[in-house]
Amino acid sequence: MIRAIASRFLHSNLSLSKLSAVAASSNGRLFSTDSGKVHEPVQVEEAETVELPPPPTEKLLVLGGNGFVGSHICREALKRGLTVSSISRSGMPSVHDSWVNRVSWHQGNLLLPDSLKNALNEVTSVISCVGGFGSNSHMYKINGTANINAIRAAAERGVKRFVYVSAADFGLANYVLQGYYEGKKAAETELMIRFPYGGVILRPGFIHGTRQVGSMKLPLGVIGAPMEMVLQSAKPLSQIPLIGPLFTPPVNVNSVARVSVRGATDPVFPPGIVDVYGILRYSQQKSV
Ligand SMILES: NC(=O)c1ccc[n+]([C@@H]2O[C@H](COP(=O)([O-])OP(=O)(O)OC[C@H]3O[C@@H](n4cnc5c(N)ncnc54)[C@H](OP(=O)(O)O)[C@@H]3O)[C@@H](O)[C@H]2O)c1
Repeated sequence: MIRAIASRFLHSNLSLSKLSAVAASSNGRLFSTDSGKVHEPVQVEEAETVELPPPPTEKLLVLGGNGFVGSHICREALKRGLTVSSISRSGMPSVHDSWVNRVSWHQGNLLLPDSLKNALNEVTSVISCVGGFGSNSHMYKINGTANINAIRAAAERGVKRFVYVSAADFGLANYVLQGYYEGKKAAETELMIRFPYGGVILRPGFIHGTRQVGSMKLPLGVIGAPMEMVLQSAKPLSQIPLIGPLFTPPVNVNSVARVSVRGATDPVFPPGIVDVYGILRYSQQKSV
């Protein structure tokens, strides 16, 4: 709780009308607006304390904060001074990094909507990194239904902003991974309905960086980083019908994390879809 001390300045022979004509300059000296004459500093006779409400705090809930993208988002948000919590089926990850202890970990399955009840307490923004692969019906549930449940619960609880880490459209691959893309699209639609002013959809292609697999660290950037360099300047290739999406540049996981946290906390970040090129552009901006 912050206590502000309001000092009351009383000048023994200063009338009220004169007082109103006296203003404090930026360096704290007093001057009279009517005469331009500098007065002697006034005497502080008494100080009184005034209770002010605590400063507004941003509380971020990361859905899937123990996953590859989610863990980078948690770290980025902590770096920016946010209060961070996460929910996933397995809860707290087993890695021994210091950031892990600074996140409040909830265990829950988003396919069971009641799981989110406690996790949403006082939350101001949500970022969802929940998604996955498997059979078509499983992919639809995990990418679609689980996120739809979370979007609805967050909207009902008055959350201001919601960022959904979706995926780039891969053209032909959409048929192979039908449940994955249909689930993503259904969640995106729900987000735009429930959060027309505070909903942000990120559509990365392949995300590279260091992925923790058990006790091992997989350096996906070895392939991803050079591909990102080459393909980000070859945007016209991505417009070629059918095969164009294969030229979608990969993005670094830190770029996705930076743009996600900004999308969740910056009230003027535009709602709607941010494609790969948008992620690259926003992540390079200094304010991000
Ligand atoms: N990695 C990429 O290259 C890439 C590219 C484009 C888009 N994306 C998208 O980005 C998002 C994050 O990807 P990622 O690579 O970080 O995936 P990930 O490492 O597999 O993380 C998925 C997270 O979701 C949680 N989760 C899964 N099912 C859940 C459920 N029913 N309830 C609660 N939590 C659940 C998992 O934790 P538990 O298992 O503990 O529940 C995990 O924390 C996904 O939506 C993915 O489709 C990824």
